[in-house]
Amino acid sequence: MVRDMRARTILDKPRFCTFPHNIYAGRQDFAATLHHYNNSNPMTDRYAIVGHPVAHSKSPQIHALFARETHQDMSYERLLAPVDGFHGAMEAFRRSGAKGGNVTLPFKLEAFTYANDLTERARLAGAVNTLRFDGDRILGDNTDGIGLCADLAKNQQVVLTGARILILGAGGAARGVVGPLLAARPAQLAITNRTHSRAEEVADAFAAMSESTVTPLTLAELPTQRFDLIINATSASLAKDLPPVPVSCFDDGALAYDMMYGVGQTPFMLLAATAGARTADGLGMLVEQAAEAFHVWRGVRPSTGPVIAHLREQLRQA
Ligand code: ATR
Repeated sequence: MVRDMRARTILDKPRFCTFPHNIYAGRQDFAATLHHYNNSNPMTDRYAIVGHPVAHSKSPQIHALFARETHQDMSYERLLAPVDGFHGAMEAFRRSGAKGGNVTLPFKLEAFTYANDLTERARLAGAVNTLRFDGDRILGDNTDGIGLCADLAKNQQVVLTGARILILGAGGAARGVVGPLLAARPAQLAITNRTHSRAEEVADAFAAMSESTVTPLTLAELPTQRFDLIINATSASLAKDLPPVPVSCFDDGALAYDMMYGVGQTPFMLLAATAGARTADGLGMLVEQAAEAFHVWRGVRPSTGPVIAHLREQLRQA
């Protein structure tokens, strides 16, 4: 009941955003954006999601709902940076007085080098999805892993401590979530990848940085293993592909979590369902990582449940 009322409060109030949700298509439009910003209310704190492409991003909508709920005077836009121009675009945005931003594909590694100060979790992830500007300080953070853990714990009722967890994939998405998953002290954290050497690289990187270990498993080793939680961090679902994982890996009551969202049931989720596993997509992670970024910038924690429900309903109607 309380949850319903909160959802209504958030969604029914007038929109908070000072600026229209434009989509900036290139260098010229980017300059126009900055001009627009420079002539807007100087009291409003400005943020943006920077990526290429960025038109699909739900972040402006999510942060608009957060800001409305928590009464923050802020704006949040989409900025399309040229593929070869992340640094220049971000720096121009920062110098125009912006307070920070989110970074999405393909710029998370560049954001890591752009920052002049890093949180521990960004250092562990080797990638940055959240930037905060304080004077000359450019703080790089990574809220992806904590967003995943929050979604698992709060929205999926998964107890990570003591769980046997398998990560599929060894790219940036996988690496970004290893640190927070390890911090939750699972009984086992294994990683497997189509290209096994990349899984070994991730395990080696964390062995050097952390006391807990990640076990790299070959595809041939998987049939003898059982897991409580299997996370698809590959990009296979984008192409409607199934990453290699035997159905026998899903133990009774297991959760199959696909970090992808908005594409309905992915082949990975369909396979898991045939094994009797529960399934979840990455929509909750998207909202939870945004909430953590919001906290980094504004110092307040917005409610995530109503926002997830709202986006879920939008996806259902799309
Ligand atoms: P991201 O930053 O999104 O993780 P990435 O660094 O390109 O993107 O990594 C993509 C991951 O998905 C890799 O682990 C990749 O496996 P390889 O290292 O063998 O390339 C995995 N991947 C992509 N398509 C896949 C498929 N069809 N089946 C299995 N794994 C796949």
